[in-house]
Amino acid sequence: MKNGSKMEIERLAQQYEKSSPSEIISFVGRQFKNTAISFSGAEDVVLIDMAEKAGIRIKAFFLDTGRLHQETYRFVEEIREKYSIDITLFFPDFRDIEKLVNEKGLFSFYKDSHIECCRIRKVNPLKRALTGLDAWITGQRRDQNPQTRNALPVIQIDPVFGSGNLVKINPVASWRSKEVWDYIRDNHVPYNRLHEQGYASIGCAPCTKPVLPSQNEREGRWWWENADKKECGLHAGNLNLEKF
Ligand code: ADX
Ligand code: SF4
Repeated sequence: MKNGSKMEIERLAQQYEKSSPSEIISFVGRQFKNTAISFSGAEDVVLIDMAEKAGIRIKAFFLDTGRLHQETYRFVEEIREKYSIDITLFFPDFRDIEKLVNEKGLFSFYKDSHIECCRIRKVNPLKRALTGLDAWITGQRRDQNPQTRNALPVIQIDPVFGSGNLVKINPVASWRSKEVWDYIRDNHVPYNRLHEQGYASIGCAPCTKPVLPSQNEREGRWWWENADKKECGLHAGNLNLEKF
């Protein structure tokens, strides 16, 4: 199957809802020719580890926004060294960045929302990364943000990118944080050292802070904005999903 009709994808989403992430990864490896894991955090390395263990030849990409923590760069390099999987880095267009920071400053997102900066630093590079793919794999989980990710299917037609021809796979949609971290511990998977300093969900340095044990993991992301707006554009389609 190169790509699928909406009905066929909805049927697959039902069929694979109770499958393990590694079963979903194996299915993706068999069914789609040109697939990539969108890699940035703990969940994504779990997926990379599963793909490597299952012998699935798959590639990955990382969107380097230019505003990340040093720990994140170290982590990305550690993953590139440990796994045989090919991880390509994508960067923003320097002209867009120069225009934004020279007109609005380096911290415009605190004043007029993260949307414009995320579009330039993440969404536009993502569009290039997705070019030519049949499917892409993300590490999104439903419980990361009950207000935006609660209805996330394990398999969907990408609601934003790819003009209806791109399939988006979320193999750990039904996992909770504990399952991710159990897998990381049991399989000695490398993780971003910022997690040892109270960071739960990690994005760009100026837009991420540690959370307290009582807080939801995404409360440390764009904390000056409402929870129901906390999608940077990579997963903007989540804002329109009907709740389960
Ligand atoms: S975000 O949209 O709010 O930044 P989040 O940090 O929750 O996303 O990550 C969800 C998934 O989006 C990750 O598991 C990964 O698949 C993808 N993703 C997020 N940031 C990046 C990035 N910089 N490069 C590649 N993929 C990313
Ligand atoms: Fe810009 Fe913050 Fe979005 Fe990173 S997370 S691209 S710094 S607004």
